[in-house]
Amino acid sequence: MDFAGKRAVITGAASGIGKALAQELVARGARVVLADIAEAPLRAAAEELGEAAAWQVCDVSDHAAVEALAAFVQQTLGGCDLAFANAGVIMSGRTVRAVPAEVDWLFGINLRGTWSTAAVFTNLMAAQAGGGHVVLTGSEHSLGLQHAGSGIYTASKHAVLGLAEVMRAEAPANIKVSVLCPGVVGTALNKQPRPESLSERRRDLMSAKVMARGMSAQEAAQRTLAGVAAGEFYIVTHPHSLKAAETRLAELAAAYARQAPWFEGAEKWDIPLMVADILAEQDSAA
Ligand SMILES: NC(=O)c1ccc[n+]([C@@H]2O[C@H](COP(=O)([O-])OP(=O)(O)OC[C@H]3O[C@@H](n4cnc5c(N)ncnc54)[C@H](O)[C@@H]3O)[C@@H](O)[C@H]2O)c1
Repeated sequence: MDFAGKRAVITGAASGIGKALAQELVARGARVVLADIAEAPLRAAAEELGEAAAWQVCDVSDHAAVEALAAFVQQTLGGCDLAFANAGVIMSGRTVRAVPAEVDWLFGINLRGTWSTAAVFTNLMAAQAGGGHVVLTGSEHSLGLQHAGSGIYTASKHAVLGLAEVMRAEAPANIKVSVLCPGVVGTALNKQPRPESLSERRRDLMSAKVMARGMSAQEAAQRTLAGVAAGEFYIVTHPHSLKAAETRLAELAAAYARQAPWFEGAEKWDIPLMVADILAEQDSAA
């Protein structure tokens, strides 16, 4: 894909990967709308990009705000070719000690907000003759990484992977879907402000040191756009992340070999085949 002249929207664009995506897209000749919950850095990020960029404050956990963002994108850019459902937050700590309000907050952004953004912009783009491409930001945490202290975040990123896979299966012919699964990128993810109703984050020096060693947001954005241009579904960036997925697959394969090995005719419980069979029976009875 040639990005010149393309119209893009990016959520979580005031910082980190989202901001770098906006910069890289504008450098390639695209026009962008940057969206974020944090107004001051959002405005600054858009102003740095000049006339090719507009901005709108949007809390992605508010579906009506995402619909208002789509109306703004339609009005400002006259349509949308690329939508990056990128906004996300993190929390850490033992999974069994998580506080319900914090779990709701994180799922409201990472899952519901990603769904709202992907759904609203898929509907907008599907109605255009040229269609479009939606990119949902997952993580290496979508793929099998079992990092202690990240249970709720990991669950949200698995949910994003599931959303993306089914949205790909459902997509009309003019829509492409990708899921971005980066490893660690040096951003402000572990430092973002939280709602006042939630307790202050514990100072976590280790995660600050880990983030500081991450891939640069610019490199992550460049790799992301290369994946989009190539029409990849899984957009991956950090080679080691594959080990987590392979470890999970090997454990699963061994579990099936022990407990539910394949037998002739085992596909009788395969739901898509069942549905096709039931439909064929209905057709022949009609
Ligand atoms: N940094 C990493 O190591 C890493 C790795 C894998 C995946 N990711 C994912 O990449 C995405 C971007 O994260 P980042 O690392 O650039 O972090 P970041 O904190 O630098 O950027 C995230 C942006 O999202 C915004 N945001 C937070 N809540 C929002 C809401 N309700 N509505 C709209 N915007 C909101 C923040 O204000 C911030 O500007 C996230 O989905 C994150 O989970 C990051």
